[in-house]
Amino acid sequence: MQHVRAVVFDAYGTLLDLHAAMRRYAGRLGPDWQQISADWRMKQVEYSWVRSLAGATHHRDFWRLTEEALVWAAARHDIHDAELLAEILMAYRHLDAYPEVPVILRQLRDKGLPRAILSNGEPGMLRDAVQTAGLTDLLNAVFSVESVGVFKPDPRVYQLAGAHFGLAASQMAFISSNPWDAFGAHAFGFKVVWVNRTGQRAEYDLHGKVTEVKDLTALTGLLGL
Ligand code: LAC
Repeated sequence: MQHVRAVVFDAYGTLLDLHAAMRRYAGRLGPDWQQISADWRMKQVEYSWVRSLAGATHHRDFWRLTEEALVWAAARHDIHDAELLAEILMAYRHLDAYPEVPVILRQLRDKGLPRAILSNGEPGMLRDAVQTAGLTDLLNAVFSVESVGVFKPDPRVYQLAGAHFGLAASQMAFISSNPWDAFGAHAFGFKVVWVNRTGQRAEYDLHGKVTEVKDLTALTGLLGL
């Protein structure tokens, strides 16, 4: 994966630990907190796909979908503490970055490679999360799907990065922990790294098409830096 001229990252689950919000409240949520968090995530992305398929007039931003998905997951698990749910939702705006993330972004910066986020997130939630995680100065750009009003894996979203950097898709690496996002990015023409942090089964015929890593530490080596 040489000759890459910009690196574009997915945000939630790739740079930002999307389970950090519920983990902080694990004591109050009880032993099922991981399942609740997984259900929350699953509904959040399901809502994004369904709204994209239904057409532009049905679009709602990712912050709103995050809240709606939390309501669904909480009801499913019989959680009715409105104050707790409000705190968890706010915690999602202030997620932790995975430990290796600042180190890797700094290495890429020192090598002169532009770095960006391309996320379903709504601009305000992305700004808060990037700031809390201390990544603001390590990124050249943060692209939100809100500028095109449709969610990944719609190709119009992936186009945002190339348009900004003036690069063809094949000149950029796209890094995501979501198999469906890795698939969409590969279909678009990016060189894709799938960050499989939790040993998920490969989907979407990803094997052989994308480079699979356990976390981001191998990235600079992969890029030949
Ligand atoms: C993102 C989510 C979907 O786009 O991971 O950041």
